[in-house]
Amino acid sequence: MLSRNVIDMPPFHVMEILERAQELGRAGRHIIHLEIGEPDYPTAPHICEAVSVALSAGETKYTHSQGIPQLREAIADNYNRKFGLNIEPGQIIVTSGTSPGMLLLFIALLERGDEVIMSNPHYACYPNFVRAMQAIPHFVYTKEEDGFILEPSEVFKAINSKTKAILINSPCNPTGQVMTAKQLVELAAIAADVPIISDEIYQGLVYEGEDHTILEYTDNAFVLNGFSKLYAMTGWRLGYLIIPKQYVRTLQKVQQNFFISTNSFVQHAGVAALTGPQDQVLEMVRTYDKRRRYMLKRIRDIGMKVRTPPMGAYYILADARQYGTSSLELSWRILEETGVAVTPGIDFGEGAEGYLRFSYANSIENISEGMDRLEKYLNG
Ligand SMILES: Cc1ncc(COP(=O)(O)O)c(C=O)c1O
Repeated sequence: MLSRNVIDMPPFHVMEILERAQELGRAGRHIIHLEIGEPDYPTAPHICEAVSVALSAGETKYTHSQGIPQLREAIADNYNRKFGLNIEPGQIIVTSGTSPGMLLLFIALLERGDEVIMSNPHYACYPNFVRAMQAIPHFVYTKEEDGFILEPSEVFKAINSKTKAILINSPCNPTGQVMTAKQLVELAAIAADVPIISDEIYQGLVYEGEDHTILEYTDNAFVLNGFSKLYAMTGWRLGYLIIPKQYVRTLQKVQQNFFISTNSFVQHAGVAALTGPQDQVLEMVRTYDKRRRYMLKRIRDIGMKVRTPPMGAYYILADARQYGTSSLELSWRILEETGVAVTPGIDFGEGAEGYLRFSYANSIENISEGMDRLEKYLNG
């Protein structure tokens, strides 16, 4: 009865772990959440305040399908200032999160049998978006010793007549790796023929290396970004696409038909996030960095290998193959027996099987308690 395109879709394992962990929590277990990619900070007060103001001002109607002009200007200014670009507000479509932005983009881009090149490991949902369009994720397996970064020569080999785009994600979920300017330049050279889709949702969460956008190196790129991570706004559902000018009209038509517009008062929160004080962001970045260093040491002390230290986002992908079981079984066992929730590597593709992903979007106290429990369970 239901579509084969989605019947075979694997679950988003991290959500299943989270849901079970919450159930255990409700039953009285003390759970340490190291699975979910969600900031433990609240949304900054000035962002919340902007919504109250917008609601009082009656901002409760449909907006322009591409988003309110103030927000598109703020997004363009932010990119232009940070990276020395000339993006125009007209190139932006505001969406109800990065995920709907991805859906909109893939609907517009893909036909049956088309291919999208992406790394493996990759963010869990990418292949499912592509398959839902009856298109094909073309995996390029990356190596841990190269920081799981897409090797341009391998990407080049993967390109064929069906290739519609190359999908990149830096800073990366699940590896925490950040691509260098040189790596982006090399990939951008390929974009002369094939567009790049760059998921930049962890932009700004960089602790080593430099923050970049693909738009510094090519115009033939679609950028996905959003407010969930840097502004601790996961539940607000606000994101955006930056699109080459020649494709805006077509994507706008898709937006009009399928989504009409993004939530009006939440867009005002986005303006406040980008134009208001950035102290909480700076404080978050400093704190994440401390947690990153602490967690990395603890994971290594337990005996799991992390061959290339993560530099951005808030994840550590650790090699847990010495425990001799599938990552799915291992993470479920860890949750049931220790009350520590971690994400199985298989969520991110075969290339991360045998690994566990740890999120340090949690307090040092909780990370410490989680690591103590893991140490006792795995080594004790
Ligand atoms: C790489 C990546 N892209 C996109 C998303 C989804 O973001 P949003 O909350 O804006 O839909 C996530 C969420 O974890 C992510 O890790």
